[in-house]
Amino acid sequence: MDIKPLVSVKNLRHSFGEGTLKKEVLHSLSVDFMPGEIAIITGPSGSGKTTFLTLAGALRGIQEGSVIIDGLELRGGKNSDMIDARRKMGFIFQSHNLVASLTAWQNVALSLSFIKGETARSAKAKAVEMLDKVGLGKHADKKAHQLSGGQKQRVAIARALVRKPSIIMADEPTASLDRQSGREVVDLLKRLARDMGCAILLVTHDNRILDIADRIIKIEDGIIEETFVSMEKIVVSIVELAALIPQYVSFADGKNEKESGRKKLSEKFAQMSDELNRRIADIIQRNMPETFALQAATLQKLLNRLVSVEAHVENFLRIVSSEDKLAQARFGDNFIQSLEFLLITMNESMETKASNEIEMLLSMTTAKSDTVKKIRDDHFEKQQDMSEETKIFLFDFSNAYVHIVYSIHLFAESLKEWAELSARVKSGPSI
Ligand SMILES: Nc1ncnc2c1ncn2[C@@H]1O[C@H](COP(=O)(O)OP(=O)(O)OP(=O)(O)O)[C@@H](O)[C@H]1O
Ligand SMILES: [Mg+2]
Repeated sequence: MDIKPLVSVKNLRHSFGEGTLKKEVLHSLSVDFMPGEIAIITGPSGSGKTTFLTLAGALRGIQEGSVIIDGLELRGGKNSDMIDARRKMGFIFQSHNLVASLTAWQNVALSLSFIKGETARSAKAKAVEMLDKVGLGKHADKKAHQLSGGQKQRVAIARALVRKPSIIMADEPTASLDRQSGREVVDLLKRLARDMGCAILLVTHDNRILDIADRIIKIEDGIIEETFVSMEKIVVSIVELAALIPQYVSFADGKNEKESGRKKLSEKFAQMSDELNRRIADIIQRNMPETFALQAATLQKLLNRLVSVEAHVENFLRIVSSEDKLAQARFGDNFIQSLEFLLITMNESMETKASNEIEMLLSMTTAKSDTVKKIRDDHFEKQQDMSEETKIFLFDFSNAYVHIVYSIHLFAESLKEWAELSARVKSGPSI
């Protein structure tokens, strides 16, 4: 599926002043914003954030470069194009810009008053419904000046959302609020935007709200330096996912209630990994810069390999719990112990992503590793005095184990790739 950007900015430059006083504040910015994406634009004071937002929001004429909003080119654009583009957006500013003498609902309804065919009655109904959604249902009839700062900002959100825009442009919406109200306002904004499938471009200095973003775009000295938060969030989730696997081992001895405990864990694992796969696929299908696409593809591989480790561990434990109890008693414990050790090492290297941990995991899991050799030696040597049945069981058993070891090796290779790639992205030049 090919998703087109909602806002596409290419080689955008902007200067203020004339002649010798002319100063370029944005130097050739290019960036795309996708439908439904929450992007935070951050950077030091005077770096050009507001200038960028007003250009992308069709509030200011384009001097050089291009801005395309939902297919509409603004450059050299007619006034009517600028207005059409603005209709697709909702704006929220630092100072809420409410009309103090009007009530909350009148302020919200005001933004519907320019829409053709909108009657006063339906505008009021929509305004009141939107105020209800931002938790101000009871305050709809209050005058704007009677509301607190946080409440006014929520009215401003309702005003921006009531027209069902496909994109919200917000400039420092939390700047005039205390920590608690600031948090409430952005959480609300995020929830409503997600519900309505609406993208958000939010300019902020406020580091405390960065976590709502799918993506952080840092502007410094008029140049974009991008950080992709959603990737980091995905990595955190993969670490959590990996942490489930060692827990399986405690359900290894085949009693019924243990069997069902392992099944529950495995279901949870499947659910989490499906969800993660969706999130990564979602990133991959957006047309992102190369470095980003490469990171996403590497994460997808890492996740797939973790899923394969899980499948092999599950299979092994199923064999352990269903087969010959005698063989299990004689050999199982060894396996289980070394499996536990392997899985814990795997998790540690996943958590730290430290190269020495990853190297250790890699060497523990090569075909020539002690782990694998020991299994082959121990179990084939001890086979002489066994029944045919036990031999077959042991063969399956040690094979299943070797599969785990090998799948962990592949996982470790991917992890190494990821760690090297993210180190390069962090220390390298910005994209
Ligand atoms: N109308 C204007 N005329 C001249 N210079 C301007 C104008 N508006 C902004 N500038 C300058 O352009 C640069 C970028 O300003 P902008 O408001 O975009 O920064 P910002 O990143 O939003 O800063 P802040 O975080 O303080 O809001 C600044 O150096 C500013 O002085
Ligand atoms: Mg600003």
